[in-house]
Amino acid sequence: LAGDEIIVVSNREPYMHARTGKGIEVQRPASGLVTAVEPVMRACSGTWVAHGSGSADRDTVDRNDRVPVPPTNPSYTLRRVWLTKEEEQGYYYGFANEGLWPLCHIAHVRPVFRSSDWEQYVEVNQRFADAVIKEARTDDPVVLVQDYHFALLPRMVREVLPKATIITFWHIPWPNPESFGICPWREELLEGLLGSTILGFHTPFHCKNFLETVDRYLETRIEHEASTISYGGKLTQVESYPISIAWPESSPERPSVADCRAQIRQELGLSADHLLGIGVDRLDYTKGIVERFQAVERMLEMYPALVGRFTMVQIAAPTRSSLDEYQNFEARVRSLVQRINNRFGNGSYQPVILKAEHHSSEQVDRYYRAADVCLVTSLHDGMNLVAKEFIASRDDERGVLILSQFTGAARELHEALIINPYHIEQGAESLYRALTMPEIEQRERMRSMRSLVRDFNIYRWAGRMLLDAARLRQRERISSK
Ligand code: G6P
Repeated sequence: LAGDEIIVVSNREPYMHARTGKGIEVQRPASGLVTAVEPVMRACSGTWVAHGSGSADRDTVDRNDRVPVPPTNPSYTLRRVWLTKEEEQGYYYGFANEGLWPLCHIAHVRPVFRSSDWEQYVEVNQRFADAVIKEARTDDPVVLVQDYHFALLPRMVREVLPKATIITFWHIPWPNPESFGICPWREELLEGLLGSTILGFHTPFHCKNFLETVDRYLETRIEHEASTISYGGKLTQVESYPISIAWPESSPERPSVADCRAQIRQELGLSADHLLGIGVDRLDYTKGIVERFQAVERMLEMYPALVGRFTMVQIAAPTRSSLDEYQNFEARVRSLVQRINNRFGNGSYQPVILKAEHHSSEQVDRYYRAADVCLVTSLHDGMNLVAKEFIASRDDERGVLILSQFTGAARELHEALIINPYHIEQGAESLYRALTMPEIEQRERMRSMRSLVRDFNIYRWAGRMLLDAARLRQRERISSK
């Protein structure tokens, strides 16, 4: 695809400009999607179309709503799309996050479907499709559509640019046909997605669920062996591409593991040999944060020798906080933390420390490097990049990863301690096992996972998708001669 035009479209933008007391500051959002796709975009250049949601976003674009990024060393263009309050409410908070998000994640939160939200979703998809079409300089760009915010956009772009190569990646799980079928607009969503040339999921299981869903609700021809769907005379390839991260480059400025261990413990007022668990998530009900804390509580109950010796630090970036479900969840988490701390803590010792605020990637990296164990206990998760980030951060080959079996990452990181997050006793035992694991076993597990993440990094993810797209493009060019 060398020389071809690349346009990414996602809801969340890679750089937000915010007005603060100190003037305009650049912020990076807490989004697995952005963490993964941004390094690819930096390498490919091109245009990224996204919702301008920062408080100073409008003050930092040119006449065409564009701004060169990354701000310090620009290599591609960010094209911002503006949404009204009602559009943001209906399309983003409503249909995407109260409808599709709980529909696709089995976390037993009931999806809400309002026709008014759906109407905004349709309208905003059209608006972003128009922006993509306007940004395209050629009639056959490669458009990389990201996530559940834009299920309708592939078809909308296809109608105007029939020669475009549209690669859509669904970053969250795809449920089985029964679960998906409760959505009143299931056919429209499927038809929209089938405007894609390639439709990618993290795991073969999600691909299978998608094929079965299409089979159930649309009249199509499905070739199971080739994993293709033919609909309205157009072929869509459905494929799994497990997403990953950019392997960190070594930098002299990065503090050593020993320094991170010592500094973080000092900042928290803990002794040098205090045992530390780390969790890093958006404060989202799919992440299993309640179950994680319950496992900590149970472990302290079962192994009282660890009371006063172990602390769980939870970094929890606020997210979608105007929705009731998220407010209720935060209240539940806070009251659980208080209960556990009252039960096992005292004036100077708190077994659970909740840091419910945004942290930069450098700050998070220091915690990863300081920790003895990282807990990823999602109830359901497309991939989960925290698991991979933790592994990549541990160049000392120490530390243990506890990983939920309901993440895409568990299909790759077999050397983690894999748990069912709903099984609190199992979580507690795994945590104890992690904290008492011999160094040699930690090293063996870590080494093996590090070599996998280093090889199957984000460039491999993008490379495989773009290579598949290039093949299909070539095939099309030849057959249209
Ligand atoms: C998940 C979604 C992304 C989203 C991110 C953060 O990773 O798959 O599309 O950007 O959560 O959520 P937010 O609503 O803040 O963008």
